[in-house]
Amino acid sequence: MRRMVAETRLHPADLILPAFVREGISAPVEIGAMPGVFQHTRDTLKKAAVEAVEAGVAGIMLFGVPEDAKKDGAGTVGTDADGILQVALRDVRAEVGDDLIIMSDLCLDEFTDHGHCGVLDAEGRVDNDATLERYAEMAQVQADAGAHVVAPSGMMDGQVGVVRDALDQAGHEDVSILAYTVKYSSAFYGPFREAVGSSLKGDRKTYQQDPANARESLRELALDLEEGADMVMVKPAGPYLDILAKVADAVDVPVAAYQISGEYAMIEAAAERGWIDRDKAIMESLTGIRRAGANMILTYWATEVARQL
Ligand code: PBG
Repeated sequence: MRRMVAETRLHPADLILPAFVREGISAPVEIGAMPGVFQHTRDTLKKAAVEAVEAGVAGIMLFGVPEDAKKDGAGTVGTDADGILQVALRDVRAEVGDDLIIMSDLCLDEFTDHGHCGVLDAEGRVDNDATLERYAEMAQVQADAGAHVVAPSGMMDGQVGVVRDALDQAGHEDVSILAYTVKYSSAFYGPFREAVGSSLKGDRKTYQQDPANARESLRELALDLEEGADMVMVKPAGPYLDILAKVADAVDVPVAAYQISGEYAMIEAAAERGWIDRDKAIMESLTGIRRAGANMILTYWATEVARQL
């Protein structure tokens, strides 16, 4: 009876797998604070993509982790056609073609030596407009490398419009934009810093949102839609279900939510101690995100959950 009357269902096609690929390693490296999640080699990333397809997962979101020595102030490897993210995009596209929606995180923090999502001005502050020029270049190289969808995640003002223009001018009219529209400055990103080997000192409060504020999210939403976002995202997911519900109510474009690294780590850690039932907690967390209004969910459990479904 409960199954029949359930208002919310999860389906493998709702799920997107975030995945990390690291340059210069010969075997995958498990992320300490994210047991079961790995920095992939080029080969194991291809395998993970094939497994995701076989499980029915809809998409994969790729993050590149370059060698430390290649990071610089401008995040140059982020726009190098042979940078790790572009190499991985080409690998995955060649391996799975159009069987998986291939998405790329469009941000500089994985590639800069200071770990910020943009380039810095003389005072060490993130320079919004100079960063937009870098994002325009990134959009083009990621699309050239085979991304079906680019996902600007740096929270610079104007990023969606600049990326749309750059894609159109480069002949990539068919490449879509999944905008990280609502992105809070969150402690729950902690394990992600390890996952991408980020060297960030300080915080992102000058460009990510204050957890105390809700209305600002609707303003971010209006701007991204006006600039041409095809899909919008709310991030983190679990602690921001109220925001997710507001966003889903306000728009007619698909809405994604990102169950981030800290959300993953909390459930895994509590389960490891025998304090909660892991599988039930995972399903409940995803059902809650779906119920709040997400059409798609980015989750590190995507392949595992898709198999169960
Ligand atoms: C930016 C980016 C971040 C995450 C996804 N894209 C870090 C940040 O915004 O500070 C976090 C994802 C997670 O914690 O799982 N490149």
